[in-house]
Amino acid sequence: MKRKLKQMGVDPEAIRKVAIAMYEGEINMVIHAKGGLITVEITPEAIKMILADVGPGIPDVELAMQAGYSTAPDEIRSLGFGAGMGLPNMKKYSDEMEIDSRIGEGTTITMTVKIGG
Ligand SMILES: Nc1ncnc2c1ncn2[C@@H]1O[C@H](COP(=O)(O)OP(=O)(O)OP(=O)(O)O)[C@@H](O)[C@H]1O
Ligand SMILES: [Mg+2]
Repeated sequence: MKRKLKQMGVDPEAIRKVAIAMYEGEINMVIHAKGGLITVEITPEAIKMILADVGPGIPDVELAMQAGYSTAPDEIRSLGFGAGMGLPNMKKYSDEMEIDSRIGEGTTITMTVKIGG
């Protein structure tokens, strides 16, 4: 994605935001949901990332959004994850973020990073 956006001449600051937000979302799908699918839509105005998984879902989204909240088990923490900063950073580095999560069905997170203005 970084290479593609760079080739397209997208503002480096927007690329940095996309890279951070997408990385955190990607890691979450691997750690908390055993994988998922990322769809990226690029228009002259914005980069929209849709991260969809069929994992366990997030029981309390408001709680999960809080800095420091994590359910990561010890073996994941020993790998350096589990600070509970992924979702707060996804919120911080995207201009819009929406979480649609259903218990036992999965989670879809849509993030938009605006280009330019
Ligand atoms: N895709 C997901 N499916 C199910 N639960 C999720 C998903 N993404 C996040 N969560 C839940 O929200 C919590 C907070 O996520 P967040 O990314 O902020 O922290 P973390 O992944 O635990 O740690 P860090 O991202 O700092 O390594 C997770 O611990 C997990 O319980
Ligand atoms: Mg995380």
